[in-house]
Amino acid sequence: MNAIATALPVLAIALAAHAWSSPGLSVPPGAVYIDPLEYNVVGANYTQWRNSSIEGFNPTNTTSPFIQIFDPSFLNVLGPSATIRSIASNPGFAFAHEAPVYVPDLNVLFFSSNDGGPLGYNGWYNNSVVSMINMTEVDIALASTTGNVNIQVQTLNLSDTVQMVNGGTGPYKGNLLLVTSGRALLPPSIVLVNPNPPYNATVLLDNFYGRQFNSLNDVKVLPGTDIIFFTDPTYGWLNGFRPEPMLPSQVYRFDPSTGEVRVIADQFVHPNGIAFTPDGRTAFVTDTGISGGFLGTNQTLPATIYQYDVDPATQSFMNRRVFAYADSGVPDGIQLDTLGNVYSGCGEGTHVWNSRGTLIGKFYLNSTTAEMMFTKSGLVILDEETLYLVNIQAQGISLTTL
Ligand SMILES: *[C@@H]1O[C@H](CO)[C@@H](O)[C@H](O)[C@H]1NC(C)=O
Ligand SMILES: *[C@@H]1O[C@H](CO)[C@@H](O)[C@H](O)[C@H]1NC(C)=O
Ligand SMILES: *[C@@H]1O[C@H](CO)[C@@H](O)[C@H](O)[C@H]1NC(C)=O
Ligand SMILES: *[C@@H]1O[C@H](CO)[C@@H](O)[C@H](O)[C@H]1NC(C)=O
Ligand SMILES: *[C@@H]1O[C@H](CO)[C@@H](O)[C@H](O)[C@H]1NC(C)=O
Ligand SMILES: *[C@@H]1O[C@H](CO)[C@@H](O)[C@H](O)[C@H]1NC(C)=O
Ligand SMILES: *[C@@H]1O[C@H](CO)[C@@H](O)[C@H](O)[C@H]1NC(C)=O
Ligand SMILES: *[C@@H]1O[C@H](CO)[C@@H](O)[C@H](O)[C@H]1NC(C)=O
Ligand SMILES: *[C@@H]1O[C@H](CO)[C@@H](O)[C@H](O)[C@H]1NC(C)=O
Repeated sequence: MNAIATALPVLAIALAAHAWSSPGLSVPPGAVYIDPLEYNVVGANYTQWRNSSIEGFNPTNTTSPFIQIFDPSFLNVLGPSATIRSIASNPGFAFAHEAPVYVPDLNVLFFSSNDGGPLGYNGWYNNSVVSMINMTEVDIALASTTGNVNIQVQTLNLSDTVQMVNGGTGPYKGNLLLVTSGRALLPPSIVLVNPNPPYNATVLLDNFYGRQFNSLNDVKVLPGTDIIFFTDPTYGWLNGFRPEPMLPSQVYRFDPSTGEVRVIADQFVHPNGIAFTPDGRTAFVTDTGISGGFLGTNQTLPATIYQYDVDPATQSFMNRRVFAYADSGVPDGIQLDTLGNVYSGCGEGTHVWNSRGTLIGKFYLNSTTAEMMFTKSGLVILDEETLYLVNIQAQGISLTTL
């Protein structure tokens, strides 16, 4: 989706006086343990100050970026020495928004800039950009300092058939698998991009039986298959770079070998991120209903991750249930680690839930982070004008399709 405003000033107020204690947990330096029991009763003033979905929950008033631990099991995600360090920044340009694709063979991370938001410098008349960062260069630079580094990102010169990239996964048969939101009358599409020069592109799909999609947002491949699943909310229109929507906001399945495309889930406000468990039996779709582009913020709408069973026969999504509701912002892009934990980019950073839907921790950046991706060096968090690397010990599930 597109960036909402940076998180508002964090509340602290009534809670500053509130006792804060750690139950003897040994937490990594820079991490804070927040015992939910300490905050079950906070009194009237607190609620008055945290009355907006885009204000973060930072009861210890800790300076960002830092790590919040809500459940001791988050220590297994972090490892003994997790740090959050900035690896690239470009103040004033939201160069790092979504569509992260990590190519292990190159040790390079690809990603797209914000489309339609204020710091993206694009819209009805201008395309967004796709860039890449060389993680080998990041590793070398980080090894020489304990602080932040600023590695040059390179912008790809993509074909004009690639307009407003907003989602990505892969490598897919050696390529980046991207979805675009389209721009003006140029269609949203699914595209393969060569991760090596000359970065040539091939469009796989750009319509539903002759009708343009609204503005494709995110994509994943069902593990063990080469079948592509993608979401199509109306953010292109809501952010002023696409005409009025002509299809419901829904989730599609595309089989590139037969060309068949069909709807496998609906009943969303704004379907956004998508992910599967590695066994391919469970799917997650986020609904960023709260964020309405020019319609503004409506806190009575979903900021919800839904979980489904994947029908083994039809691959339709069945038995929808709430997996988690994000307490801050909206759950945007979504990724899983090999421990079954679920990560989503929310209002004040990246939130992490265990496989049962318990919030176990946050990487707290005090700003909206739409997406993140596991690399060999750790978890890279896309924070619009900054890329952060968190050197946690948890590893991402494989997103490679051979
Ligand atoms: C969070 O960000 C807001 C601006 O977006 C800033 O005013 C506030 O001081 C920040 N809070 C912390 C704890 O960094
Ligand atoms: C929160 O932290 C900021 C700076 O980090 C400080 O200015 C402010 O007074 C603190 N608020 C409380 C209530 O402790
Ligand atoms: C709530 O805020 C008011 C006004 O600032 C203050 O007088 C009162 O003591 C506060 N109450 C608590 C419980 O912190
Ligand atoms: C939220 O709380 C702030 C601070 O007390 C107040 O200025 C604002 O009007 C409140 N907003 C709503 C929607 O209640
Ligand atoms: C579109 O690009 C042109 C040329 O680079 C630039 O002058 C203009 O500000 C851009 N428009 C927007 C909406 O960012
Ligand atoms: C990444 O950087 C390393 C170290 O400079 C270099 O050897 C490698 O060729 C680079 N990879 C790419 C894909 O540019
Ligand atoms: C894209 O083109 C520009 C200008 O020709 C060039 O400087 C840049 O290196 C190219 N990017 C890549 C990744 O090749
Ligand atoms: C890029 O071009 C090469 C050489 O023509 C071709 O083999 C490959 O399939 C192309 N890749 C994409 C993603 O279009
Ligand atoms: C918020 O959404 C609800 C549910 O769709 C709707 O009834 C209500 O009118 C909306 N509020 C605003 C201010 O748009």
